[in-house]
Amino acid sequence: MGWRGILGFDYGIVQGPLGPDISGPELVAAVANAGAIGILRVPDWETPDYVRDLIRKTRTLTDKPFGVAVVLHFPHKENIKAILEEKVAILMVSWGDFPRALTIEAQEAGVKVIHQVGTLEDAEKALNASVDAIIIQGHEAGGHVLGKEGLFGLLPRVADLLSGSNIPLIAAGGIMDARGYVAALALGAQGICMGTRFLATEESYAHPIYKTFLVKMDKTEYTNVFGRSRWPGAPHRVLQTPFFNDWRNLPDHENEDSQPIIGHTTIHGKERVIRRFAGTVPNSTTTGDIESMVMYAGQSVGLIKEIWPAGEVVKNLVEGAKSLLRQQFQDADPA
Ligand SMILES: Cc1cc2nc3c(=O)[nH]c(=O)nc-3n(C[C@H](O)[C@H](O)[C@H](O)COP(=O)(O)O)c2cc1C
Repeated sequence: MGWRGILGFDYGIVQGPLGPDISGPELVAAVANAGAIGILRVPDWETPDYVRDLIRKTRTLTDKPFGVAVVLHFPHKENIKAILEEKVAILMVSWGDFPRALTIEAQEAGVKVIHQVGTLEDAEKALNASVDAIIIQGHEAGGHVLGKEGLFGLLPRVADLLSGSNIPLIAAGGIMDARGYVAALALGAQGICMGTRFLATEESYAHPIYKTFLVKMDKTEYTNVFGRSRWPGAPHRVLQTPFFNDWRNLPDHENEDSQPIIGHTTIHGKERVIRRFAGTVPNSTTTGDIESMVMYAGQSVGLIKEIWPAGEVVKNLVEGAKSLLRQQFQDADPA
């Protein structure tokens, strides 16, 4: 049963990394302390000393294991070296190939590798690279979206691919509560990965206005309006904020480079300006026109009614899944 844990953790619940710096030490430690898999997100540039500090700061807040995520599209070799030297429990990778040799290097350093992918073909590549677990991301997911298909059709096919392999399969995309958790288990997953639900927690570094929007709004859209210059070819799912609805048909030749500055922020200790249509979500340090900044969210965001402590999210999933299975399925009369 999925809630009994995967990869040595109490539960098969993964807090998806929230770029660029929204899943920091406080969120990751809160998730780890609740028995689930918290994932830090390293910067998109090489900065191994900073990565070490991030890991060490998290260790002052929890003595439980946790993970660190790297987006392979950006420079990362030195950062990964630091992650392996620090011997965190999990290295999570996404948005690129992670060959078998690198996977084995991580495993030999005592670090398990989880690869987040969006297609059956990429799941097969990850399987052949002998990863320790695979996250399959459906089209419903918030943030940058690898998945082109809905989870309902994709997940069981990937489960068939992995059957007999002992590699845990983790479902991501639009899962916000115990119903989604149980559905993912029924479709063949051993765990779930949630981004948006953990974004809407007390410990996440999302800006308070962003958190309010996650509670208030219930519509998202798959788009390429934001961050076209910095990260081309990376479609994303965002909240349909009034700003987004005004600009959803942004002409193809436009991108953030030529746009006015709408705010300022500090990301992983570096001060940055935010231009209109940048792909940078507002974090707790961001100032300026917050409502006109990108706000990533998964398709079922309408299920989020309150900002919770991250530990409550985990507790509700586990207790909710157990009682749902007891009430809805175990008592059912098969005749
Ligand atoms: C704000 C935000 C930032 C994200 N950043 C990353 C990231 O840096 N790396 C990554 O692999 N996935 C990232 N994701 C995607 C998650 O790993 C996960 O696939 C997704 O959140 C699942 O869908 P859900 O948001 O509906 O739960 C992000 C998602 C959100 C909402």
